[in-house]
Amino acid sequence: MTDTPKFPICETPKPLDPAQKAALMEEIARLRKEKNAVILAHYYQDGDIQDLADFVGDSLDLSRRAAETDADMIVFCGVRFMGEVAKILSPQKKVVIPDMAAGCSLEESCRAEDLAAWRKANPDHVVVTYINSSVEVKALSDYIVTSSSALDIIEAIPPEKPILFAPDRHLGSWLKRKTGREMELWPGSCIVHEEFSEEALMALKEKHPDAPIAAHPECPFSILEKADFVGSTKQILDFVLSRPEKEFIIATEQHIIHQMKKAAPHKTFIPAPGMDGDCKCATCPYMALNTLEKLAAALRNEEPEIIIDEALRQKALIPLQRMLEISAQAAARRAAAQ
Ligand code: 13P
Ligand code: SF4
Repeated sequence: MTDTPKFPICETPKPLDPAQKAALMEEIARLRKEKNAVILAHYYQDGDIQDLADFVGDSLDLSRRAAETDADMIVFCGVRFMGEVAKILSPQKKVVIPDMAAGCSLEESCRAEDLAAWRKANPDHVVVTYINSSVEVKALSDYIVTSSSALDIIEAIPPEKPILFAPDRHLGSWLKRKTGREMELWPGSCIVHEEFSEEALMALKEKHPDAPIAAHPECPFSILEKADFVGSTKQILDFVLSRPEKEFIIATEQHIIHQMKKAAPHKTFIPAPGMDGDCKCATCPYMALNTLEKLAAALRNEEPEIIIDEALRQKALIPLQRMLEISAQAAARRAAAQ
């Protein structure tokens, strides 16, 4: 097993002057039409990228969109594993991402050969893998989950089956507590969510006692146990929009606040504070690699392109499709029960 890599440095992109920005926006608008391209963006992307995307979502909704689109090209503004998921689900489409270096600390913590050895040492376990993983790791898994689908998937696995959960130990321990299932956890973590400070969060809560805390399940339990709501990025967005309170403390990557402010300009969203040291900005340094310039270049040059070996893609597709099917069935059951 590999150690979680050291926190990379957050690079603040050079601000564009208004004329440069307008020219890039115009080029992106023209190229996406000419090339019949769809632009998908995650909530952790810069606000300008979110605003020009055809669809902004969490990992589950973005996977669904990637599977359903009739565009010829998918430009995926997120991190590399998200582009890979789009390619696994839509192999006939060209999938490009703005920067191939946009990785994820969770993906990097879990190499396929180490997961294969773990699996081999525990042959009676079911392997459940978070979508924040490489295509090679997905291909070794029985089920893929996202933060919004994980509970549904685990509940669909026969209760007598013990589970190996990779690579996020915090999401895994949250699921273990919620479901009471027997689960062994891979020791990976998200470098952004691990940075929130329980002490600073409590000090902030004292100043804003009526502000509910909403947290992503990639946060350590010390943060999650203080939260009024735990969910995926989309679920956190729905939570703050549905509640009557005017102030919220948000314990996830801070770019999601862009969507919150757009949908509820009368509410205040306070980013949860980080620990002293490395980085206190709740910004994913991998997501931050994507810029408008790189997005325009990806559309113009049709690269960097996600290419996946066909046999590998087919193996990774099986657990991914299981997730899409189980989560769709669970959503239909919930809708029928309402
Ligand atoms: P969501 O599925 O909640 O969007 O999470 C993706 C992610 O990478 C969180 O760090
Ligand atoms: Fe990975 Fe964390 Fe960035 Fe999400 S926020 S992409 S889990 S490093």
